[in-house]
Amino acid sequence: MSLLIIAGSSRRASFNRRLQERIAEVAELNGLQCYAYPPSELDAPLYQGDYEDEYGVPSNIQKLATAISEASKVVVVTPEYNSSIPPLLKNAIDWSSRLENNPWTGKSVLMAGASPGQFGAARSMTDLRSVLANVGAWVAPNVVSVAKADHAKIAEVDADFIAKFLKQGD
Ligand SMILES: Cc1cc2nc3c(=O)[nH]c(=O)nc-3n(C[C@H](O)[C@H](O)[C@H](O)COP(=O)(O)O)c2cc1C
Repeated sequence: MSLLIIAGSSRRASFNRRLQERIAEVAELNGLQCYAYPPSELDAPLYQGDYEDEYGVPSNIQKLATAISEASKVVVVTPEYNSSIPPLLKNAIDWSSRLENNPWTGKSVLMAGASPGQFGAARSMTDLRSVLANVGAWVAPNVVSVAKADHAKIAEVDADFIAKFLKQGD
């Protein structure tokens, strides 16, 4: 099985990037072939219909779509901005859903998130679940949520818990 892990923050010291790495670490320990997608590669102009008519879907988003299509399972790790999904992630999902072969259709997707706040990106994941279902993904029920996040706490997220989380949809 091949696992693609997408994180919705390109911030250098991002907690969600760190969580992406932690999940990748555990996946590899469990023998999964795994690719932690570079968050900077999600960057694209804000979706706009005239831009799409003139230039089509940006090439980096086409690359992302290929990576999603080729993965047997995708983990999306999301920050929380004002109780919802950050624009980097929402824009990448919006653009990728515009492709003729929408890569999310029928894809098994797991969600994770970290925030320094007390909700651990849970509210962002509620919105993300709705968006992913709308683009045709099968979204797993259990999530990894790290509240009051710091780097040390994320590095210690229980490996057995992550391994169980990753088995959803097998
Ligand atoms: C515009 C904005 C809105 C935010 N809203 C929330 C929020 O609703 N809940 C929360 O827990 N943190 C919120 N935060 C704080 C983020 O969780 C924090 O900046 C976090 O570090 C972002 O994720 P990252 O570390 O992966 O970049 C917000 C941050 C920004 C910039």
